[in-house]
Amino acid sequence: MTKTTPPSIITLDGPAASGKSTIGRKLADALGYLFFDTGIMYRAVTWIALQFDMDLRDEDAITELAQNAQIDIHPPSVGDGRACDVIIAGRDVTWEMRSGDVDANVSVVSAYAGVRKALSERQRQIGRRGRIVMVGRDIGTVILPEADLKIYLDASAEERARRRYEEIIARGGQADYDEILNKMIERDRFDSTRAIAPLRPADDAVIIDSDKMNAEQVFERALELCNQDL
Ligand code: DC
Repeated sequence: MTKTTPPSIITLDGPAASGKSTIGRKLADALGYLFFDTGIMYRAVTWIALQFDMDLRDEDAITELAQNAQIDIHPPSVGDGRACDVIIAGRDVTWEMRSGDVDANVSVVSAYAGVRKALSERQRQIGRRGRIVMVGRDIGTVILPEADLKIYLDASAEERARRRYEEIIARGGQADYDEILNKMIERDRFDSTRAIAPLRPADDAVIIDSDKMNAEQVFERALELCNQDL
């Protein structure tokens, strides 16, 4: 297959808080592409299930919810660091979806085959249109294996926990570093050992280890990959 420069379909996978959204947004802006964070869809389904006190172990019920959930994603209406507005039933849940409750339960929800099937189909339809930076866990391996450029963004759990901690403090919240670190390790373990579409780099992904890089350096590296012949 002939690849285009810059690549039209760009996938960005990696563990929690590896900087995927920050880099993905900047890259999409620089290229004039759509930025799509697929984690939002899994978070939204989890948020609705928690809101309605659903039994998260009931795979059939959660799957049905994923099939029918109306999740509206709009350009950001508030300049508070959000990449987009996430609206569910008329309510802005952009930050609620990032709560500890959702963090603690989203891995269970996203491991269900039916949930993945429902959301994957929607993601694939959007991704195949091209001119997109799509962010997640399985985008390069399962959703868009035909992508023109696949990036896997990695960093140690300690570094990622530090970034998440500082992000919360910067928003005026309260956080405990050790708790964040332990929960992050647990979520990554779950996401990378699940049977369906586990978190892992695609064989043809370029791995960027951002431990000793700042966001600007990671962005420059990603942009360089977009501008070189693949
Ligand atoms: O990127 P995030 O932390 O917002 O993702 C939330 C959860 O959703 C994450 O723990 C795993 C799941 N997820 C997934 O399984 N596949 C994706 N493509 C994106 C997210």
